[in-house]
This record gives sequence, C-alpha cells and structure tokens, in this order.
Amino acid sequence: MRIDILTIFPGMCMPIIEESIIKRAREKGKVRILMHNLRDYSSDKHKKVDDRPFGGGSGMVMTPQPIFEAVEALVRQGNVESAKRRVVLLTPQGTRLDQKRIKRFTKYKQLILICGRYEGVDERVRTSLVDDEISIGDYVLTGGELPAMVFVDCLVRLLPGVLGDKNSLKFESFEGNLLEYPHYTRPAAFRGLEVPNLLLSGDHSHIEAWRKEQALKRTKRKRPDLLKQ
Ligand SMILES: C[S@@+](CC[C@H](N)C(=O)[O-])C[C@H]1O[C@@H](n2cnc3c(N)ncnc32)[C@H](O)[C@@H]1O
Repeated sequence: MRIDILTIFPGMCMPIIEESIIKRAREKGKVRILMHNLRDYSSDKHKKVDDRPFGGGSGMVMTPQPIFEAVEALVRQGNVESAKRRVVLLTPQGTRLDQKRIKRFTKYKQLILICGRYEGVDERVRTSLVDDEISIGDYVLTGGELPAMVFVDCLVRLLPGVLGDKNSLKFESFEGNLLEYPHYTRPAAFRGLEVPNLLLSGDHSHIEAWRKEQALKRTKRKRPDLLKQ
C-alpha cells in the first residue's frame, strides 16, 4: 500500500512514521508512506496556500489550487486503478473513525490523505476531489496532521504481515463488538494485588472461558453501546 500525506507541516508527521511498528512495516515493504509539502504545489509566487474567506468572517481558508494539483500529481504517480484508490480529507465534520471503518481502508493500494489547517479547506475540495471525509472525534484540532497520524497508525497495524502475531488482531478491543479482557503479567503478586489464580493454572480452556466472560462484563460496564450494535 502507498499512503501519500499532503500537509504544510510534513515535519510533524516524520517522528511518528520513523518509529516502532510503522517504521518496521515500511522497512519490510508492507507500506510506503510519502510526505508531501502542499506549498510545493502552490502556483503563488510566495507559495501561499491560504486566503481570506469570501463573504467575510474569521480566519483563513486553504485554497483549492495547490490541493487539486497535488492530488492530481499523486494520482498520476500512484498509477493505480481508481477503484483501488481513495482521497481522504481529515475533518472534524467527517464520519467518525472506528475499527470497522479503518479496516475498510486496508483493501486499497493508494490512499491520499489531505491535512487541513486554518478554518479548513475550500468547499470545492470536499465536493469535487475527496472520496471520504474522516474525523477522529468530536473535538477540533489545529490541523489534520495528528488525525492523519492516528489514521495511519491504526491502518498500518492491520496490514497483512505487519504484526508478528496474527492473534493480536483477532483478540483485541472492538472485535466482535467487545472490549478486550484484562491482561496481567509478572509478578503474580504486586503490592498485595494478586493475579487471578485461574490465569496461573495452565488450564487453557478455563482461561479462555474466563477471558470471554471478562470481555463481556467489562463491555457491559464500560461500553454497553457496543453490545447493541
Ligand atoms: C481548526 S480545524 C478547522 C475546523 C473547521 N473550521 C470547523 O469548524 O469544522 C483545521 C483542520 O484540522 C483538522 N481537524 C481538526 N479537528 C479534526 C478532527 N476532529 N478530525 C479530523 N481532522 C480534524 C482538519 O483537517 C481541519 O481542516
């Protein structure tokens, strides 16, 4: 998979894609992540990418020209059939990202992520260029870079061969609309807090049953909405 990220602050994203699982996924060739500075596509002599809003009002709006030209250039570079490509705008007005939605993006060969800034992007970007509008939650950040990194992080770990143990994906929160069961590790007793005895018993069928029950219990307690889905 190729992921192109369009931003005026590429440096904000680099530390995240250069560490840990994303870094290893890139090294193993499971994903290519390419950062693009939107200013490089601006036809303005000062490389401006924003302007005042028509009709007045506060703040600046990102102009359509650099965004359209950048996306068109990246589509040409990616050279994948249109059914295998999505252009995604990060916006607080988009569909809320969740595990089901991010899974759907794993089937594409090229994703182009647009990070907004200021008051956001000119509406024509949304109506004529973008396939998906994605929000990471009901709050407003200063820019789309952190949302793009959230998107990339939860996507990359789902790509085949990225996580060493496939079971990590099978038994984790939101699978089967449940939260994951509680985890314990050594020591078995810590400051008077004991690990449940069953987990030390080596009886795998009982451990599995206990984990299922715990997953159900904590989902009922913390996220009853998941059980209704
Ligand atoms: C300050 S916000 C613009 C908010 C916009 N004026 C509004 O009220 O909907 C600037 C940029 O940050 C990004 N952004 C902010 N919050 C976000 C969120 N919750 N999810 C995804 N992107 C977000 C978007 O790219 C947005 O264009």
